[in-house]
Amino acid sequence: MSEEQKPPTTPTPPPPAPAPTSLPVQPTMTRRKFLSWFALGWIAFSAAMAGFLTSIVRFLFPNVLFEPPMTFKAGLPSEYQVGKVDERFKIKYGVWIVRSADGIFALSTVCTHLGCTPNWLDAEKKFKCPCHGSGFRMSGINFEGPAPRPLERFKIELADDGQVLIDKSKSFHQEKGEWSDPLSILKV
Ligand code: FES
Repeated sequence: MSEEQKPPTTPTPPPPAPAPTSLPVQPTMTRRKFLSWFALGWIAFSAAMAGFLTSIVRFLFPNVLFEPPMTFKAGLPSEYQVGKVDERFKIKYGVWIVRSADGIFALSTVCTHLGCTPNWLDAEKKFKCPCHGSGFRMSGINFEGPAPRPLERFKIELADDGQVLIDKSKSFHQEKGEWSDPLSILKV
């Protein structure tokens, strides 16, 4: 058979395109993962809220120092002996109560050098500061060491019930001539 006699060839159709393979859909986040992220977020949120609320409470109720009152009663004048330093109120109120021949007065326990608390040495009849050695007489006058001025005295008077009443909100400085104020000593 010659070339001219060959039957026309029909074009073969192209092979069918392969069906698209559908990959299994991978969920980006499992339920368990989601729950743990949610819990983590919730904890972080709660911590932030707790911090925020704490700062609000601290703002509304600032730290309060409960200090002893500035005014207190110290018993009857008859409880104090001439020539004695009473130390009952030293720790709680920072006050020595002294009775001299002139009357009763309330001395501050704060050293006038740098604020330490001296000790009363009864045998030597003086207040001695343990920090730098300042010494004060029973009257409160400084006489040794670096303290630049006498101890301060506080306002003292008799209350209505006859007790000694100390008011620490008012102090008297010897170097300013304030010990001559009648409220700096209780004449009894
Ligand atoms: S604080 Fe008292 S002597 Fe210095």
